[in-house]
Amino acid sequence: MIRARITGTGSALPEKVLTNLDLERMVDTTDQWIVERTGIRERRIAAEGEYTSTFASAAALRALSAAGVAADEIDLIVIGTVTPDYPFPSTACLVQQIIGATKANCFDVSAACPGFLFALATAEKFISHGGVKKALVIGADVLSRIVDWSDRNTCLLFGDGAGAVVLEAVEGENGILSTHQHTDGNHWELLYQKGCGSRNPATQQNLDHRLLYVTMQGNEVFKFAVRAMAEVAREALAANGLATSDISLFIPHQANLRIIEAVGKRLCLGSDRVFVNVEHYGNTSSASIPIALDEASRAGRIKEGDYVLLDAFGAGLTWAAVLLRW
Ligand code: ACO
Repeated sequence: MIRARITGTGSALPEKVLTNLDLERMVDTTDQWIVERTGIRERRIAAEGEYTSTFASAAALRALSAAGVAADEIDLIVIGTVTPDYPFPSTACLVQQIIGATKANCFDVSAACPGFLFALATAEKFISHGGVKKALVIGADVLSRIVDWSDRNTCLLFGDGAGAVVLEAVEGENGILSTHQHTDGNHWELLYQKGCGSRNPATQQNLDHRLLYVTMQGNEVFKFAVRAMAEVAREALAANGLATSDISLFIPHQANLRIIEAVGKRLCLGSDRVFVNVEHYGNTSSASIPIALDEASRAGRIKEGDYVLLDAFGAGLTWAAVLLRW
């Protein structure tokens, strides 16, 4: 049987670190409040001259190197992002040029924080239906460019970065076992970027009204996240006849430590099987799962044959899980 298997991972983060103490000097907040409510201690912020494509292409090159695959062997590049370099062309086109993936088809997927999982599911279909042999799937976001740095409700949550995987068509039992995606558009107003689309274009008036930025009802998003992530995780396990005890590593979207712990508890997963790095990077949106996957794999926390469950939620509302055998 042909499966889509991850054969290499990579990630890239900005050098610049913004700590909670730095934030104390910018908005009315404290390190203690941020750590208690979110688990976040610091996040990475893109410097001038660094864009989504900067991190996406660096992560892609690391994933290619880990897989031993040359850029010109890649048939498809899919990027999950809500902060593309430009509204068009897709950031995947820019990455194609930067890394020299000359024969790849390229497009972006917009699904907020689960964007990487939606992109992975899309690439998996291209591989399992034939035609595509090697794909690059990337999650990349620079949310610092669309966050209101005077809004304490949102600015402390987010960070920038990218993660990437090489996905190859292989014979055998290891690879992606199933993908599960969901959307509930009835609640899109809980979390969205007000400006710079066709409703509120980037006119001077809209910029003056601070319409550029992310707006969020944090409490409601929190409750939805815990419920949705637990449900879709159970759905993925049931589809494969597996139990949570079979999972070697659960890699949840890194938005908030309290959300991660609540989901882990609902799934009866001990903290030793739940990957967490939110304290260092905050919520990097679509980049969070592939960054975590890269760190886990390079740290030797995943062995061949292990069951790994990826799980995310985000604006849309969207939520998704991908179950794989490493
Ligand atoms: N510093 C100090 N106090 C604050 C801050 C702050 N930065 N922010 C809010 N507060 C205050 C509030 O004003 C409120 O005070 P009050 O009780 O006097 O009214 C109090 O702290 C509690 O506020 P809540 O909003 O109820 O705090 P909560 O425990 O819900 O934590 C948080 C807020 C961290 C935003 C949480 O709701 C959360 O993480 N939600 C999920 C958000 C998320 O993950 N979004 C990303 C989705 S992924 C994507 O697609 C991009």
